[in-house]
Order: sequence, then structure tokens, then C-alpha cells
Amino acid sequence: MSKKIFSGVQPTGNLHLGNYLGAIKNFVELQNEKENQCIFCVVDLHAITVKQDPKELKKNIRETAATFIACGIDPVKSIIFNQSMVSAHSEAAWILSCVSKIGWLNRMTQFKEKAGKDKEKASIGLYSYPVLMAADILLYDATHVPVGDDQKQHLELCRDIAQKFNNDFNVMNFLKVPEPLIQKQFSRIMSLKDGIKKMSKSDPSDLSRINLTDNKEEILNKIKKAKTDPLPLPREIKGLAQRAEAENLLGIYSSLKNQNLESSINEFNGKNFSEFKSKLSEILIEKIEPISKEIKILLDNKEYLDTILLEGSNKADKIASKKIKEIKELVGF
Ligand code: AMP
Ligand code: TRP
Repeated sequence: MSKKIFSGVQPTGNLHLGNYLGAIKNFVELQNEKENQCIFCVVDLHAITVKQDPKELKKNIRETAATFIACGIDPVKSIIFNQSMVSAHSEAAWILSCVSKIGWLNRMTQFKEKAGKDKEKASIGLYSYPVLMAADILLYDATHVPVGDDQKQHLELCRDIAQKFNNDFNVMNFLKVPEPLIQKQFSRIMSLKDGIKKMSKSDPSDLSRINLTDNKEEILNKIKKAKTDPLPLPREIKGLAQRAEAENLLGIYSSLKNQNLESSINEFNGKNFSEFKSKLSEILIEKIEPISKEIKILLDNKEYLDTILLEGSNKADKIASKKIKEIKELVGF
């Protein structure tokens, strides 16, 4: 059955291995299943929920588009565009915010994490961020949304919002309730410096993540310095209990090799970390270095990237403007 796929990535710089293994690698696989229609969005409206330098933002929008393409998203097969170019996203977000409950949003753990201790000072945009995300998805009648594990709660909220809108306006199945596509394994890649912290763009230490723009030397250095523990690698999965760093590194290795954790454990059966780390660096360089090189080439061709985004936005706008028109009609505008 053909799927309508929609997903988004924020243009906030430092796209990393977690974004790749948790999301973008999956986008490419879905795109390559023949029947699917895929839309991948650079969610710049989401990016400004925390303060951005306008020049950096512009650069990061292009860099995110370049990363999509360098990872294998084909702008001919899929739509690649940036959110702010399609006004229906903002309009739908407002209308959906009027059917969403404060109580639902109050439960969102990502807001709590991002707002930190002083919630009073967080922007209203950061708070209503998941409603905009719901608008993104629902405007395109997306059936499936590939994301990393951290977005699961936002997708559940999106489903609730769709159902509430359909109920409030008495239109069964008008907004399509989407299914999350979260990989069963390796959907949460952790920091190289701390196995219980998510690998993140905003971690102040660059050593905590492999950026998709890292070169061979940077990858080698980061893996060399990645935190481990004094024990050898385990001989079975249960030997990973309480060993978050070992589990994360083996997870990264398995995901890059497209094999399960068990096979990786068998491969390194009781060996020490130095041998494993050299194999891990090898596969990382094999997979990431070509992406990093391609991103650099694409970034030298800004006109090409801008054309892709413009053409993608025109295609997206055709779909979204039709849906927002229907939404406005239902609301009584
Ligand atoms: P963001 O960079 O927050 O816009 O995230 C883009 C996509 O990458 C989303 O689908 C996230 O769920 C996914 N993602 C971000 N960080 C990680 C991580 N550490 N592990 C797995 N997936 C991630
Ligand atoms: N909130 C997502 C993230 O931070 C990005 C996002 C915005 C998204 N809109 C979306 C993901 C729609 C999937 C579908 O990772």
C-alpha cells in the first residue's frame, strides 16, 4: 500500500549522527519504496521558537536541505521545502491551537526540558510548538511520520488534535490520523560523552556528537575520545545492563551495519574497546565521510539549493493551500 510520508528537521545547525540514524536514514528508505509519496520539510518556523541569528538561520536552512540531498533524498522523487515558504502552516497552526487543550500541551516533556527551570521566560512559540508540528502533518494528509523516539509524544498529540478537530466539526476522517514510524531499535542515539544523555545539536561539547559535516580526522578523534568503561565488551546482550556507553556505541555500529545488536555482540565477543573502536571508526568514515563531502559541494552551490527549496515549496503549497481552504470553510470563515 502506498504511504504518504511527511517529516521535518529543524535548521538549527550541527545535524548529527542521531538525526541520521534516528530519522534521515529512514526517510531515504521510505522514499525508495516505489509507491510512497514523500515530503521532507526544513522546519524553519519551529527553529525560531528559540532565538536565532538571522544570518545563521539562512545558512542552516540551506545546510539542512543540503544534508537531506547528501544523505540520499532525491528532490525529483520527494518534495523538499522549507516551512516558512508555505503560509498554510502558520494558518493551520493557529486554527488547530484553538481546538487543542492547554492540559494536553502541559504534558509535553520536550517543552519542560527545553524551557528549563525558568518556564515563564520561554517563548509562547516553544510552548505551542507541537501544534505547529500537527499542522505540518495534517495539511498533507500524511499517513506515516518517520521520526526519532523523542518525537513520539508530539505525534500522539497530533493524533489527538486531528480527532478533536474531526469531532468538533463533525467531519469523520477529514483530518487523517497519522501513524508514527519509529524504528524499533536504535531510535535514540546517545551522547558520546554520556550514555544517558541524548546526542544533541545543542550540547556545548562538539565531542559529544558526530556531525554529518565531520571529516575523517574528526570522526577518528571523537571515537577515540568517546566515553567507555573499563570492562571488555560483553558476550551476550544482558551483559550490557548498566553499561549505557557500551550499549550506545554497539547500537551505532549495528545501525550503520544494518545488523541487530546480537550480531554485533557476537562479532566483538569479549574483545576490548580499542579493537571495537577502530572498527566503529571505519564504518562511520565509510558512511559519513561521503555525506560530509557531498554537503560541502552542495553548499558551494547556493543557487541550486535555493531552486530546490523554491520548487519544493511550490509543490507543497499546491497541496497545503487546498487543505487549508477546506479547513477554513469548515470553521466558518
Ligand atoms: P531535530 O534536529 O530536533 O529537528 O530532529 C530531527 C529528527 O531527528 C527527529 O525525527 C528526531 O526525532 C531525530 N533525532 C534527533 N536527535 C536524535 C537522537 N539523538 N537519536 C535519534 N533520533 C534523533
Ligand atoms: N519537532 C520535530 C523535531 O524536533 C521536527 C518536526 C516539525 C517534525 N514538524 C514535523 C517532524 C512534522 C515530523 C513531522 O524533531
